[in-house]
Amino acid sequence: MPKPKKIILDCDPGHDDAIAMILAASNPHIQLEAITTVAGNVEVEKTTLNALRMCDILGLEDVPVAQGAAQPLVREREIAPTIHGKTGLDGPHFPEVPRKEVVDQHAVDVIIEKVMESNGDLYLVPTGPLTNIALAIQKEPAITDKVKEVVVMGGGTFGNWTPTAEFNIYVDAEAADIVFNSGIPVTMFGLDITHQTIATEEILEQISEIGNSVSNLVSELLVYFSHTYKEVFGFDGAPIHDACTVAYLIDESIFDFEKVRVDIETEGNYTYGTTCVDRLHVTGREPNVKFATQLDYERFWRLLIGALRAEGSDPGQVRT
Ligand code: RIB
Ligand code: CA
Repeated sequence: MPKPKKIILDCDPGHDDAIAMILAASNPHIQLEAITTVAGNVEVEKTTLNALRMCDILGLEDVPVAQGAAQPLVREREIAPTIHGKTGLDGPHFPEVPRKEVVDQHAVDVIIEKVMESNGDLYLVPTGPLTNIALAIQKEPAITDKVKEVVVMGGGTFGNWTPTAEFNIYVDAEAADIVFNSGIPVTMFGLDITHQTIATEEILEQISEIGNSVSNLVSELLVYFSHTYKEVFGFDGAPIHDACTVAYLIDESIFDFEKVRVDIETEGNYTYGTTCVDRLHVTGREPNVKFATQLDYERFWRLLIGALRAEGSDPGQVRT
């Protein structure tokens, strides 16, 4: 088996962030070097609490959790309790106080330290606003030569927060502009791909039949998250946006990609936060993004459901 991929998951749990954590924790192809949190779906104190709660459930005692940015670089903070609830992980009941504690180092410093001590094999996997990643690049530009790849959930050729802007990018478009123009290889999972992952009633049924502690938690998360997507967007179920990033690192062949130019709108009244995805290469500008276009739905869910079966039997154990 090839060496596991070392990743830092920079997240804003968030129902789909939590599922991405489960996939990362349960798969032998992934080595979680750290989990860093950012304000996004809810305030950073709550996304951090949710990350700690998930670490307790997954047995991730040895993975450091570091709290990050509470505000975007420039704009006022915008959060999404209408989608994820006031806690950011509404649905399941969690113990009030997690066993695991956050480390006393800022997320940005953890990112810089881990990247600089790596031998160029560390992946940054942001599944929330890109504020921490941008701050790390600003504080230590040398990381742009050492990060293996930024694998981001965000953006797309349409929006879910405005007609043209996806939430993660919209919350901090200035940060996204820094990351997409940093020179670090960027692989982008936008709404074009993540909306192909919908957790249908049939999928929820399969998950409910597994019957272990982790799968039961995911069932509760998806009951809430799916209800939101039905009510707010009229979908048949919830897209598991963030899990696409980790699924890609485990098995790239689940996805198809194009190399395209992506520029970030940081000025427009109606278009702020838009990822301008140049699929027809009309700008003539150098492509800077590996853009996910299609996924194999059956293989995606086989991987996810396999993780729930595996993770629940013995949380946090690496599987061979
Ligand atoms: O637009 C979807 C993204 O915004 C996902 O990462 C979700 O968790 C929220 O952060
Ligand atoms: Ca997220």
